[in-house]
Amino acid sequence: MNSSESKPESVTSQKKNIVVLISGSGSNLQAFIEAQKNSGFNGSIKAVISNKEDVYGLERAKQANIPAICIPHKEYSTRERFDLALANAINQYSPDLIILAGFMRILTPDFVKNYKGKLLNIHPSLLPKYPGLHTHRKAIENGDKLHGTTVHFVTEELDGGPLVGQGSTVIQANDSEESLNKRIQTLEHKLYPYIAKLFLSGAISLNEDVVYFENKQLEQVISI
Ligand code: GRF
Repeated sequence: MNSSESKPESVTSQKKNIVVLISGSGSNLQAFIEAQKNSGFNGSIKAVISNKEDVYGLERAKQANIPAICIPHKEYSTRERFDLALANAINQYSPDLIILAGFMRILTPDFVKNYKGKLLNIHPSLLPKYPGLHTHRKAIENGDKLHGTTVHFVTEELDGGPLVGQGSTVIQANDSEESLNKRIQTLEHKLYPYIAKLFLSGAISLNEDVVYFENKQLEQVISI
């Protein structure tokens, strides 16, 4: 092609680099693997990194021809050393976006500060309700009417960063943790790539712990 021919914007624009961190089955990773096939999704997964060996998420990455890297946290004497190794691996891929998708490690403040504004997490509750573990159990035991999942920017506070998007479902009388988990995961697989797509297009950003949507402060979380 000579310089006088120009391609349409969508073809010439460079896709943004995504690194996905996992610790388990990687069903959210799979949703991203599918999403990146879509031409409107301006990102490409450059690597998948797990802190656990033999997890199915690594297999999913290999099947999609994405570098699948394992950095076992057990091999590091401190959280800081592990996070340093993790950051070194991540930086090889110059990420524009780092997706925590079931990554079950608390990250050090230095790590989080370093990637602030491009580090997203998904948490299976309607944050700020139920940070931490066993969220479905807590929602059922408390007799909640609604439960859901939240995508948020990661800050030093566990499950406490600025909220971006949520999906919710009505808790039925006969719901168990398992049945609820199934519905929540279905929501996650829609919500997370959708929010990432907005981020990658430049519509969503973080500034001084405030989320902006199309250059205006986000007043209400984005709902699906
Ligand atoms: C998701 O439910 C997510 O909310 C939580 O961990 C789970 C990961 O599931 N942070 P998967 O590995 O993506 O299937």
